[in-house]
Amino acid sequence: MIDRIHQDHKNIMLLLNALSDKVEFLKEDKKIDYQIVKSIMSYLKNYSDKYHHPMENLIYAHYLKYRVVPDEVANRLSQDHQELKTITKELDEMLGMILLDAIISKELFIEKLEQFVVKQKQHLTYEEEEIFPAIKSSLSPDDWLNLNQQWKHNEYVEPLFGDKISNEFKALADSLKLVKR
Ligand SMILES: [Fe+2]
Ligand SMILES: [Fe+2]
Repeated sequence: MIDRIHQDHKNIMLLLNALSDKVEFLKEDKKIDYQIVKSIMSYLKNYSDKYHHPMENLIYAHYLKYRVVPDEVANRLSQDHQELKTITKELDEMLGMILLDAIISKELFIEKLEQFVVKQKQHLTYEEEEIFPAIKSSLSPDDWLNLNQQWKHNEYVEPLFGDKISNEFKALADSLKLVKR
C-alpha cells in the first residue's frame, strides 16, 4: 500500500509539473492544448479523488484511531482532501466551459490553475515529508495486514501510468512521453 501511495505521488507530481509548464506558456502568451489539461484534470478527478485519497484516508483513519496524533494533523488531513476535491471540481468545470468556447478571462484561468498546482504540491509534500514518514515508523506489520485486508476490494486498474494505457489517456501519455502502450 505504501509503495502504491509513493508511486501515485510521483505520478501526480509529473502531472502537476506538466500543469506548471502550461501556466508558464499561458503567461508567455503561448498556445496550450486545453484537451491535455482536461485529461490531466480527469485523471486527478477520477483516479486521485476516487482511489488515491480514499486509500490514504483508510490509512489515516487507522493511524489516527490507534496512535496519539496531534489534533492539527488530524484536522489538516481531512480538510486537505476535501479542499483538493473542491478545487479539482471547480477547475475542471472552468476548463469544460473553455472547451465549449465560453468566454473565461485568461488571467482568471491562469490564477486558478496556478493556485491549484500550488495547493496540490503543498499537500503532496506534506504527506511525503511529514505524514508518511511518521506513519511508516509508527504502524506495525499487523497494522498493514489489517489495512490491506480492508482495502482489498477496492483494487483498480491504473489507466495512465500502468501496464496498459486506456484510450481516454493515450493523447496525454503521448504528450508526457510515457512509452508503454
Ligand atoms: Fe492525500
Ligand atoms: Fe497523496
